Amino acid sequence: MTRRRRVIGSEAVGEAHQRKRNVIEVLPGDIVTAEARDRAERLGIRLLDGPLEKPQPVRTDGKTAMRRVLWRRSPRWVAPAPRTSRSPRRFSRIAFIGAGGVGGNAAHLCANADMAEELVLIDIAPGLAEATALDLNHAAGITRSRARARGGTSLALVEGADLVLVTAGRARKPGMSRADLIAVNRRVIHAAGAAIAAHAPEAIVIVVTNPLDEMTVEMLRATGFPRDRVLGMAGTLDSARFRAALARAAGVEPADVEAITLGSHGEEMAPIVSASRIKGRPLEVYLSPEQIAACVKDAVTGGGQVVALKKTGSAVIAPAHSAVELMDHIRGARIGTVPVSVMLEGEYGISGVVLGVPCHLGRSGLVAVAEMKLSEAELAALRAAAEAIRARLKG
Ligand code: LAC
Repeated sequence: MTRRRRVIGSEAVGEAHQRKRNVIEVLPGDIVTAEARDRAERLGIRLLDGPLEKPQPVRTDGKTAMRRVLWRRSPRWVAPAPRTSRSPRRFSRIAFIGAGGVGGNAAHLCANADMAEELVLIDIAPGLAEATALDLNHAAGITRSRARARGGTSLALVEGADLVLVTAGRARKPGMSRADLIAVNRRVIHAAGAAIAAHAPEAIVIVVTNPLDEMTVEMLRATGFPRDRVLGMAGTLDSARFRAALARAAGVEPADVEAITLGSHGEEMAPIVSASRIKGRPLEVYLSPEQIAACVKDAVTGGGQVVALKKTGSAVIAPAHSAVELMDHIRGARIGTVPVSVMLEGEYGISGVVLGVPCHLGRSGLVAVAEMKLSEAELAALRAAAEAIRARLKG
């Protein structure tokens, strides 16, 4: 079939200009009017003798092609901001039993966020709590924080606290597992728990001392408080480590990642891959199974990695932030669920043991355990964690 000859007139040039083309293809036999030539020259459009070679489509590997498709489908991904409420409550007195790395950093964060009228630091090391309190008060000269800090060595200083953060106890040394601290830290928790029960009977207690889940059980025993008011901090920290690892592996911002870990704060930690997301999509879209496994391992071993590097003591910054995250949920500055170690009463088919699960928190502590949909394997991991903790508590 012979091609019909075209007459390329001034309108065709105008149209090419409108479409932001800078070339017009002139095929053999086409007629270009003088007007069209003039207009093309004025508009800087070139008339090229065709047929012009078409550019080859760019070949891309499957992964890049998939990324492009996903990008097109969600071109305006905006990381959701943490859900916050407008009227968070201010605590009247937060007590910190343990004013070392985690306690001191947490007190600092609380002061900066103006979360309480008073911060009371307690530590058995003479002078440490007073010194940190004095330091915080000096900092208020810059931060203008209204929170007054004071410190001392007596556990009776918890008097009247509405929230108590317990970080006291030994930390791991390189090569130790968190479970190795059970015997020594149990005594610390019982002393702290007895003081809290006597002097701050209405307080909500957040336990950070390791081994976390076991020490939360001990705190429940020592205070005799209901499960609503004895919470263990681990899931926020482990989830933070999981999120950081996923963000690094996928080359995205931490804010683009939702990650959650449940179970124990130890060997039986259960990072929940099925519920974790990168830019709102399942992890498998961005990462290979090997990469996901490496991120899970990073979450489980993150604390140990810090201990191995430090040699004396464990992580302090991320744990302090993680504890304050729970306080924010309690005071209503954050809403939604958060992983917390609580005594289970039949949730996930588990009873009588403390385990990390997603919870709603509020001014009275635990409001409700949220029952997430988990895969069979994840549920099995949760139950295995419960059994391991039970066995360690008996041992
Ligand atoms: C950690 C300690 C606080 O995981 O258990 O860093």
